[in-house]
Amino acid sequence: METKLIKVNGKQPDLESIRMAADVIRRGGLVAFPTETVYGLGANALDGDAARKIYAAKNRPQDNPLIVHISACEEIKGLVKDLPERAQILMERFWPGPLTLILEKSDKVPYSTTGGLDTVAVRMPRHPVAQALIKESGVPIAAPSANLSGKPSPTNAQDVYEDMAGRIEMILDGGPCEVGVESTVLDLTGDVPMILRPGGVTIEELNEVLGRVELDPGLQPGQRPKSPGQKYRHYSPKAPVLVVEGPVEAQVEKITEMAKELSAQGKKVGIMATAQTRKFYETGYVFSVGDRNAPLTISANLFSVLRKFDRIGVDHILAEGIPESGLGLAVMNRLRKAAGYNIIKLE
Ligand code: TXA
Ligand code: MG
Repeated sequence: METKLIKVNGKQPDLESIRMAADVIRRGGLVAFPTETVYGLGANALDGDAARKIYAAKNRPQDNPLIVHISACEEIKGLVKDLPERAQILMERFWPGPLTLILEKSDKVPYSTTGGLDTVAVRMPRHPVAQALIKESGVPIAAPSANLSGKPSPTNAQDVYEDMAGRIEMILDGGPCEVGVESTVLDLTGDVPMILRPGGVTIEELNEVLGRVELDPGLQPGQRPKSPGQKYRHYSPKAPVLVVEGPVEAQVEKITEMAKELSAQGKKVGIMATAQTRKFYETGYVFSVGDRNAPLTISANLFSVLRKFDRIGVDHILAEGIPESGLGLAVMNRLRKAAGYNIIKLE
């Protein structure tokens, strides 16, 4: 299959390209498109056969449910059994945006979309291309991140092309994604709302609205996460990643020492530094992932920097940790998983 790569204006998408993409979706095909978090791999969420194609294109395990994307709040009504008040409050405050809600599914949503579960994940993205595509398709769009299963999520069209060329019909290139880490997945089926995956909407923001919200204890290393997708190896570049956490000066010292040691052994070392620390490193391929005082710059670049190390072909990646407040929680969740929990914690 030839994969068409089509450029669209990310702010004001032209209707002609959107129409072509919507035709593919209505015919039961696959289109990758930008959202504010990461690129999604879309299919008609109400067509079981179309949803199954997503699993095949990504090599995704069958039990890992998809997120259903809508373009207007009222569209959620057809997808869920009932809509609790706290869901409505959250939708009003955070939609469109990077928050996914888990609720009991309606009979309209096929089990191939929900990975066999009786619940469904729903989100309304705020990216103009995503919104236009869903509207023009006239159906809700199931879309996981548009990477091969296990790899870092794609945050630009080139990264999608690298993984999906020949596997899907079309990629809409609307430029780089703003947030860079995926949506927050919030389970509303229990008594207390529970974050199954930290993401673009922070736990602090959710707390303000809900008063009480829990973080799935299964997200800790060695535990069993509640969300099927969280149990798989994930976000992994080819080279092994080591995350160094603790005070910044100590991080720099440790990474410098290890980079020198590995280089002396003839290894190619990639260092994921930050704007504040980049200048201190003299060994290896050093990239700043972003500004420690602006976590959005870090989340926006995280996955593309990991993929950059793959392209260079480094043997080891040494990454600095950042504080877990705000978007830092999602960043560290992804980074630790990318490292397979290979972490050094310094005092
Ligand atoms: O930002 C995002 O959420 C992106 C963009 C494209 O919207 N999508 C995305 O999808 O990250 P995906 O498939 O890569 O991750 C969806 C996560 C998985 O961890 C999956 O297990 C979980 O959401 N999930 C989906 N439906 C669920 C359900 N019914 N119950 C529990 N977890 C669910
Ligand atoms: Mg994913």
